[in-house]
Amino acid sequence: MTTEDFKRAAAEAALAYVEPGMKLGLGTGTTAAHFVELLGEKVADGFDIVGVPTSEATRELAERHGVPLTTLKDTPELDLTVDGADEIDPQLRLIKGGGAALLREKIVAFASKRMIVIADATKRVEHLGAFPLPIEVVPFGKESTRRAIAKLAKELGGSGEVDIRRAEDECPVVTDSGHIIVDAHFGRIDDPQKVADALNRIPGVVEHGLFIGFAERAILAGPDGVFELEP
Ligand code: A5P
Repeated sequence: MTTEDFKRAAAEAALAYVEPGMKLGLGTGTTAAHFVELLGEKVADGFDIVGVPTSEATRELAERHGVPLTTLKDTPELDLTVDGADEIDPQLRLIKGGGAALLREKIVAFASKRMIVIADATKRVEHLGAFPLPIEVVPFGKESTRRAIAKLAKELGGSGEVDIRRAEDECPVVTDSGHIIVDAHFGRIDDPQKVADALNRIPGVVEHGLFIGFAERAILAGPDGVFELEP
């Protein structure tokens, strides 16, 4: 089986938590895309749900697969968000944002009563931080903000390398909300809350990819099958 098969298996297992009438947050990324596709099949079979997408990419995908959509304006409280992650620790703290959608992902997860994370088993880690932390930053003053993040990352034991994420054409990646993304090397993150609090104090930081206290369950799939984790 391939990694893609594992992602799909995790996404399929998450469908068991979806009940008719639910208002869903729809995540972003390759694993969440499997979930949206599978949800489309259920909707075609008459299953009644509505979703709020966490990115324009997910919105387009959901529309293509016939998943009915709403907005947080019309539906400010959601029942369940299903989304992927870049790293998942034993307490189900997450690093997200590899797909540059972390701001909308966090807003949607925060608006949801519950969040389930789906991933292939390689995303499970003992300690967060091998994956550089994505941080969404306001373009104005981006170099000053990048330096402030680099100083913090160094103080907290990382290499302090902070890269502006660039697309294939070398232009900075611009998020759906018009911000840029920096990827920060904090090294092993022993105290995610401390890093989160410190980042939130830097004015140009809009949001960071540490999701603490969001996920109630992770559904992982790997060579040993599908298994579920709770914090
Ligand atoms: C999107 O911004 C991310 O938070 C994704 O959820 C995360 O990068 C996982 O993506 P994959 O499912 O593609 O690995």
